[in-house]
Amino acid sequence: MPGKERAAGDRAGDSPITARALVRSYPNAAGPPLQVLRGLDLEVRSGEAVAIVGASGSGKSTFLHLLGALDRPTSGTVLISGSDVSGLSDEEAAALRTRSIGFVFQFHHLLGDFTALENAMIPAMINSSDRRTARKRASTLLEAVGLGGRFDHKPNQLSGGEQQRVAVARALVNEPPVVLADEPTGDLDTATSREVQDLLFRMRERSGAALVVATHNRELADRADRVLRLREGVLEDVRG
Ligand SMILES: Nc1ncnc2c1ncn2[C@@H]1O[C@H](COP(=O)(O)OP(=O)(O)OP(=O)(O)O)[C@@H](O)[C@H]1O
Ligand SMILES: [Mg+2]
Repeated sequence: MPGKERAAGDRAGDSPITARALVRSYPNAAGPPLQVLRGLDLEVRSGEAVAIVGASGSGKSTFLHLLGALDRPTSGTVLISGSDVSGLSDEEAAALRTRSIGFVFQFHHLLGDFTALENAMIPAMINSSDRRTARKRASTLLEAVGLGGRFDHKPNQLSGGEQQRVAVARALVNEPPVVLADEPTGDLDTATSREVQDLLFRMRERSGAALVVATHNRELADRADRVLRLREGVLEDVRG
């Protein structure tokens, strides 16, 4: 899936990620519903990297979960590769995630019973039954983030930063057209944080993925094509 072809195929309204008038409120026992997102719009083109910054609690994870079809909006629209996420059943949303979305969670969610290599292979195994290809791609990605010597370690035998790097490899293994990363460098030292950033941006260049990354990391935000701040439920331009 060469990035160039995909970029050339893009037209307005045909972007891999579109959010329109997005609202997400949470019920609140102590008072009126908590309106976290209040009519937010975003369009991300193929090959484009967008950083979302904003105070803790401003709604960055909430927003990424909506883009990743992990949660449904109170109102408004999310289109991923042309599919309207709110109209999908749970099974259809799961299929869309496997096919089109790589998600790096803020708290990595690896499967405890599987090794690092197996965790990184899982999305590729679901997408195709070709175990050898899945294994090869997952190994290459794990090596790229410095985990060549940790293939057979289970998550509880890995440090927090190592688990996060496995989670990044897992998100990229299918070369999805949409990559969503929630604070991917959160608990990493500077050198490892750079390796993870390099991997995300290399993937964006190679496969033409649309990348949205929520982060407090200034260096990571500076590498994005656009930086937006989530404040009072909407996105403001910081740079772009
Ligand atoms: N399931 C939920 N039910 C009720 N309120 C929630 C729920 N999930 C999140 N919130 C509230 O929504 C707000 C936004 O949370 P969110 O996790 O999206 O923030 P964030 O910008 O990702 O913060 P951080 O930078 O700390 O990761 C917070 O005030 C949080 O308390
Ligand atoms: Mg968050």
